Amino acid sequence: MPEQREAHEAILDRLHRRLRTLCQCTNTFFQAESEQELLQSICGILVAGGEVRLAWIGYCEDDAEKTVRPVAQAGSGLDYLERVKTSWGEMETGQGPAGIAARTGKACWVDDIRTDPRFSPWRVAALARGYASCMAVPLIAYSKQRGAVDLRGTLNLYSAECNAFDESAVEHYTGLAASVAYAVTALRGHLAEDLAYGVTALRARAERKQAEEALHQAREELAHVTRVTTLGELAASIAHEVNQPLAAIIADANACLHWLEADRPDLDSVREALAAVVKDGDRAGEVITRIRALLSRSSVAHRPCDLAGVIRDVLLLVGPELGRHGTVLQTSLATDLPPVMGDRVQLQQVLLNLLLNAAEAVRNVPPERRRLVVRSTLERRDDGSWAVVAVEDAGVGFREEQAGRLFEAFYTTKPGGLGMGLSISRSIMDGHRGRLWATANSGHGATFHFALPGMR
Ligand SMILES: Nc1ncnc2c1ncn2[C@@H]1O[C@H](COP(=O)(O)OP(=O)(O)OP(=O)(O)O)[C@@H](O)[C@H]1O
Ligand SMILES: [Mg+2]
Repeated sequence: MPEQREAHEAILDRLHRRLRTLCQCTNTFFQAESEQELLQSICGILVAGGEVRLAWIGYCEDDAEKTVRPVAQAGSGLDYLERVKTSWGEMETGQGPAGIAARTGKACWVDDIRTDPRFSPWRVAALARGYASCMAVPLIAYSKQRGAVDLRGTLNLYSAECNAFDESAVEHYTGLAASVAYAVTALRGHLAEDLAYGVTALRARAERKQAEEALHQAREELAHVTRVTTLGELAASIAHEVNQPLAAIIADANACLHWLEADRPDLDSVREALAAVVKDGDRAGEVITRIRALLSRSSVAHRPCDLAGVIRDVLLLVGPELGRHGTVLQTSLATDLPPVMGDRVQLQQVLLNLLLNAAEAVRNVPPERRRLVVRSTLERRDDGSWAVVAVEDAGVGFREEQAGRLFEAFYTTKPGGLGMGLSISRSIMDGHRGRLWATANSGHGATFHFALPGMR
């Protein structure tokens, strides 16, 4: 098991780093004032993220050689780009990842620069600079409204390790390249607008929409990665939850086989055991369904949601983990909660983040304080009825000067923390026209509350 754990931690570590990089890229999308600044920052962020040794962005030119011209670059061995030629044409210098990605519009990678025949024109120069594998992704985004946005360029990444670009890396960087394509298009639109000031409002609206789409896409990606990371923390408890019913199924099935061997099988016992098998099968299946839902990539449109069901599902998921650490969970749930408009998976994610924070806050306090209370109440205010959910703990609490920072991205006081849980939860709440806030308890610990407008 230690190797498995190590592998698991390596994956989480990589996800953490990608998440951080993605966040920084998203900021750049909205802050960069020129195309050059944007492309250069993206390369810089990707190299600083530690996953790649060299990152460059090239644009296709329509000259005789069909050159892929580097327009931004960062990392080690930058003189590589001065030495080598890359083309998007059919000739030999067009058979590498950049050329193929530019021609086909699809990601292309080389697992081992030492042996891949397609890489021979650049091999010596690349190996001399410590590149072992590389990948190119096209700067293309597809949107329902506008079709393809194609910058006719590629994002090119070089790693010091062989086989660095697996399926998840391809997916990750393809998504990032799409966001870059959107952001650049939006920026170009604004520039054109500045020059010919007063261009139609219609155009501005389309661009704003594109920018919003890029932001939305980046947020979704962030939320998904953090869900995966959070579930990773629960992996041991989840495995146990699934293993228990499976062990029971095996025991019952063996008993059945044994009974059936008898001359006059005791069919009543067999029937009873088979009923237990079905029940345990359902139990394991339910755990898996809950996890699947949380792992799903994209969220669905907002629809009427039953908050009590959301709370129940999350409690079932974290209950075993709390039990493992000797934490007692109490609930006080209103029976008259109105339905709310929302995305079930995202709402579960918010509650999951709050509960895991609370569980971590009580981990090292005396046992009698290791308890959490989940409360739901209906509040009638001037602006209608609100469903309010609170997670209360008697843990370490927070100091007043911390209060303002709790919801900041990357603010964390935990050695292994990423500091994204509360920041993502708050943006989810914003997307639901809801609120998320924290209060310090008068005794020990803290309470985190979220409120959602009721539908009736
Ligand atoms: N229930 C709580 N009691 C005390 N402090 C808390 C509580 N919940 C959150 N905090 C503080 O807020 C910080 C930010 O929480 P957040 O969930 O955003 O990140 P994190 O838990 O550190 O990391 P992760 O991204 O893995 O969730 C925590 O590091 C902790 O200092
Ligand atoms: Mg957290």
